[in-house]
Amino acid sequence: MTKLSVSILSADFSRLGQQVAEAEAAGADYIHVDVMDGHFVPNLTIGPVVVAGLRPTTRLPLDVHLMIEAPERYLADFVKAGADILTVHVETCPHLYSTIQQIKGLGVKAGVSLNPGTSLSTLEEVLPLVDLVLVMSVEPGFGGQSFIPSSVDKVRRLREMLDQAGLRPELAVDGGIGPQTAPAVVKAGAEVLIAGSAVFSKKKSVAENVREIRESIAKTGAP
Ligand code: DX5
Ligand code: ZN
Repeated sequence: MTKLSVSILSADFSRLGQQVAEAEAAGADYIHVDVMDGHFVPNLTIGPVVVAGLRPTTRLPLDVHLMIEAPERYLADFVKAGADILTVHVETCPHLYSTIQQIKGLGVKAGVSLNPGTSLSTLEEVLPLVDLVLVMSVEPGFGGQSFIPSSVDKVRRLREMLDQAGLRPELAVDGGIGPQTAPAVVKAGAEVLIAGSAVFSKKKSVAENVREIRESIAKTGAP
């Protein structure tokens, strides 16, 4: 079953708990929390205090995407706040092996993410260690950007790498995902779709937007 991780970046922050509840009621599988530091990416967003505020509002796993330099400084804080999955970027982790071990030692799932210009080969040594691999299909930093078409082939090549190695971390895609782009990444082998602006688009309700994404996936024949 393809999972949908709803990114709160495009939610209405004046009523964040309510928006998360709407996403949960609509059938989201994870709540995706985009943490940005103004260094690794140009934007600044939220920290552990918001994760702690969200924790009691939902039963869904909190999927925390750390777009920050030196993420090892904050891992314990995010776990204490209630994160269930911590994803770091390979570009920010010179000691990626240790960082992954640190995340696992904190008792949560470990994810690694790649920018669009970063090669899949950077993952080779750590693939057996991780629970989730996140392919960025936009440059990280902002919601509402256009999907980079070459991401489909990157997902397909990552799926091949995982199959050849007999590994089963969740394969996630983040950026520009909606009913138009979801089918291609699912066909290429993605299992977790992260979507923000397509879910919180004001034109329709969260429930309708989630339904449209799900229907677009169902048409591919994927569960
Ligand atoms: C981008 C973030 C994404 C973003 C996705 O840097 O990592 O999670 O919220 O937003 P959309 O779905 O609008 O591209
Ligand atoms: Zn994200």
